[in-house]
Amino acid sequence: MFEKLEKAAGFIEEKLNGRPEIGLILGSGLGVLADEIENPVKIPYQDIPEFPVSTVEGHAGQLVLGSLSGKKVVAMQGRFHFYEGYSMDKVTIPVRVMKLLGVGTLIVTNAAGGVNESFQAGDLMLITDHINNTGTNPLIGANDKRFGPRFPDMSEAYSRELQTVAKAIAGKLNIGLKEGVYVGNSGPTYETPAEVKLARVLGGDAVGMSTVPEVIVARHCSMKVLGISCITNMAAGILDQPLSHEEVIETTEKVKSSFLSLIKEIVKAI
Ligand code: HPA
Repeated sequence: MFEKLEKAAGFIEEKLNGRPEIGLILGSGLGVLADEIENPVKIPYQDIPEFPVSTVEGHAGQLVLGSLSGKKVVAMQGRFHFYEGYSMDKVTIPVRVMKLLGVGTLIVTNAAGGVNESFQAGDLMLITDHINNTGTNPLIGANDKRFGPRFPDMSEAYSRELQTVAKAIAGKLNIGLKEGVYVGNSGPTYETPAEVKLARVLGGDAVGMSTVPEVIVARHCSMKVLGISCITNMAAGILDQPLSHEEVIETTEKVKSSFLSLIKEIVKAI
């Protein structure tokens, strides 16, 4: 696997001048951030050796490399999800390729349902920690020490230092950044109201279908991680209305400008 992913990184490197230092994973409806990248080199996932191909609506499916706020970045415009049928190690291939490209800091974003009843649709939430509720783990299987240890520490999955930076910038920009624990489920069903209650009892503030595998793999290879959720809807059973992917995309449209300015300022500061 290591050698294969080195090949993928080499393929990408050939198209660049300069290595990226920050990686961005852009969630459902949040891919617009990649359009802000200057002098972009865009590489469709299907062109990259070893990369799976994403199929879900709202996920464009390409790597965009270039400059953002004066920093060299690599962004995933669209990500891979476990529910699409990819194994966890396929879902997380891009994170390892980013590591091999030289990325030391990963910013993960996602659309999530609000579990904390003080939240509302359109809020942005700084992820302080997560609960892996997918029932599996991307690191199951033989461990390759070149990426990281057999039993990785997860006591600071989301960098405290980066959280401090994000909070300071949100304050400066007057963005009411919420904070909380992200519960990662497998999807593709949205949760039942009982599952949302369970997530709350467990200490969760938001639920989603991504992020957790990528963050596990990023921490395994010692990347620093910052996570931001866009609360696109209140999770099932909180409001008396059904959930839909359309609502998720509509809300990301509404928060686009504050999301963009928050991430751009954070990239500038780190
Ligand atoms: N649940 C799971 N994933 C989601 C949700 C949700 O309510 N909203 C956006 N992604």
